[in-house]
Amino acid sequence: MTNTNQAFSRPVACVTGASAGLGKVFARQLAERGFDLILVARDAERLAALADELSLQHGITAVAHPADLSRDEPMRALAERLSKEERLMVLVNNAGFGTKGKLATRPVGEQATMLELHVMAPMLLTRAVVPKMIERREGFVITVASVASFTASMGNVNYCATKAYQRVFMEGLAMELAGTGVRVQALCPGFTHTEFHDRMQIDKTKGIPRWIWLSADEVVKDSLDNAFGDGPVVVVPNWKYKGIVLMLRYMPLWLRRMMQERYGRARV
Ligand SMILES: NC(=O)c1ccc[n+]([C@@H]2O[C@H](COP(=O)([O-])OP(=O)(O)OC[C@H]3O[C@@H](n4cnc5c(N)ncnc54)[C@H](OP(=O)(O)O)[C@@H]3O)[C@@H](O)[C@H]2O)c1
Repeated sequence: MTNTNQAFSRPVACVTGASAGLGKVFARQLAERGFDLILVARDAERLAALADELSLQHGITAVAHPADLSRDEPMRALAERLSKEERLMVLVNNAGFGTKGKLATRPVGEQATMLELHVMAPMLLTRAVVPKMIERREGFVITVASVASFTASMGNVNYCATKAYQRVFMEGLAMELAGTGVRVQALCPGFTHTEFHDRMQIDKTKGIPRWIWLSADEVVKDSLDNAFGDGPVVVVPNWKYKGIVLMLRYMPLWLRRMMQERYGRARV
């Protein structure tokens, strides 16, 4: 259903980047859990098809809200819409992309777009929804950061930096919201099968071992199980990545650099 004036009868979840990958799976799993949905991304056709499919399959109301969230006007329009949504229970800040290549060689506009999409959009949307959630004493904001938020790597400098912003933003906000009934999560997945790497034209079979890949289904299930099950603020799906994050936090700098160079090579 693409009617944006739709009245909702169930708790509502808004998912950004819902046309593909993790966002699409978030939409699916939230529909299974009985949420009405506001689905956001640029591709209006894919969103409308998903909204129709989930409405039919789960008897919920799903609406498409096509928007480029790296642009100021659509970003603010969505924030305005969500700030007025009485039943909004869950916001998933998920839309994102990566780039390949050193900063000095990339178009500056593309890098600025990443900062708008990864930093400004989640901040504005979260700021828009939290006051009503506090009033109602319920609500959940999930921001899809990354294992990359714990590190830095070449060919990936703004990606790591913006993902670190997302994680730290959620961690700080969790402290501010303690006792309000509103909760937040920084979801930090590692390599996950979605369209993310295809869009960057990275060959997934080269340089990244097969055993390390996760499925979008398991990542999203872990996120939602933790969200609705009183889990921690920072969620790192899968024991392999929990180990990697622990190592990244405590390993000597020289070893971290060596690993970063090895995995960064595919991106430059
Ligand atoms: N896949 C991984 O290995 C991995 C690991 C860690 C973290 N992540 C994070 O997970 C999140 C989702 O990525 P994914 O892996 O699911 O990638 P994906 O399959 O490429 O999906 C990205 C989604 O973001 C949307 N999007 C991109 N630019 C947008 C814009 N300007 N405005 C609105 N929507 C936009 C895309 O839709 P449209 O093209 O229709 O706009 C799409 O729905 C990202 O934040 C990413 O950084 C991914």
